Amino acid sequence: MSEEGNEWWGASGQPQASKSGLNRRLDPAARDTTALSAQPSIKEWVESQTGPNYWYQTIPVKDGIVTPGTVDSTQRLRLLALPDDLSGKSVLDVGCNSGLLCFECKKRNAGRVAGIDLQRNRLEQARTLAEIMNLDIEFRELDLFQALELGQFGLVFCIAVVTEITDLIRALEVLKGVTGETLYLELATIETFPRAWRVLGINVNALLELNISAILSRFGPRQFRSYIGGTAKLRRIQSKLMSGWSLIPDRQFLTSIMGEQFEIRDLGMSSRYNLFRLTREK
Ligand SMILES: C[S@@+](CC[C@H](N)C(=O)[O-])C[C@H]1O[C@@H](n2cnc3c(N)ncnc32)[C@H](O)[C@@H]1O
Repeated sequence: MSEEGNEWWGASGQPQASKSGLNRRLDPAARDTTALSAQPSIKEWVESQTGPNYWYQTIPVKDGIVTPGTVDSTQRLRLLALPDDLSGKSVLDVGCNSGLLCFECKKRNAGRVAGIDLQRNRLEQARTLAEIMNLDIEFRELDLFQALELGQFGLVFCIAVVTEITDLIRALEVLKGVTGETLYLELATIETFPRAWRVLGINVNALLELNISAILSRFGPRQFRSYIGGTAKLRRIQSKLMSGWSLIPDRQFLTSIMGEQFEIRDLGMSSRYNLFRLTREK
């Protein structure tokens, strides 16, 4: 028998109608014949997500049940320091995975909340969790490059995504387009990838990376600045979503593309890469 408070029933006391993985096993045909004890509890369902469905995010679900993610999401949430009240804000999480940031924002009373991702199994997990938590969130199977179809959002997250795709510049242009006010962007930069090696407080990686282009683009005559908007390095990527090369930019690169429209603040190293907050200039 399930632990008390750990079964997932709707307000009516009946299993919720949905397309999610948990409820598909609780479809109307199955309901009449399935003994109550055979209903998967939330805990059992969370624990059943293994193999290709292993949890990446650490998500507090209900009654102390937390998804055993491979990434410590709490450290990232501390860095993000989201306000307690997001009333009236619309939110888009690009590469939402199993939905953690969408849940955090909806719990803070955000208005429209949407999460997009390419991985169907992650979106299924996200939808199931949203139902368990009774949160109204739009989860869509959509590529970052199609995000403009959804319109503009006050608050946008794009966390640990652009480092793993091939077209960084186009991705940044899309993020510019969908962001009405604030973009939280986490990506690897040359200065932080691999993790900064510091001696006497000095970032040695950054020193080693200094080159004539970077110096000219920062301090050189104006005509150089218009030609050299920072530098980037190629990184070989081999993942289930893509195989090829991505770009690891330096901060000047980021400033060149986003700096005209946004004030860029470095929030420091997050769970995976460097987290930036970009606020649209008024
Ligand atoms: C490293 S995970 C980060 C997940 C989440 N943003 C977080 O920080 O917890 C990258 C996520 O981005 C998604 N993703 C990768 N390329 C994408 C694309 N082109 N459009 C939408 N999502 C994408 C992946 O499916 C994956 O869920």
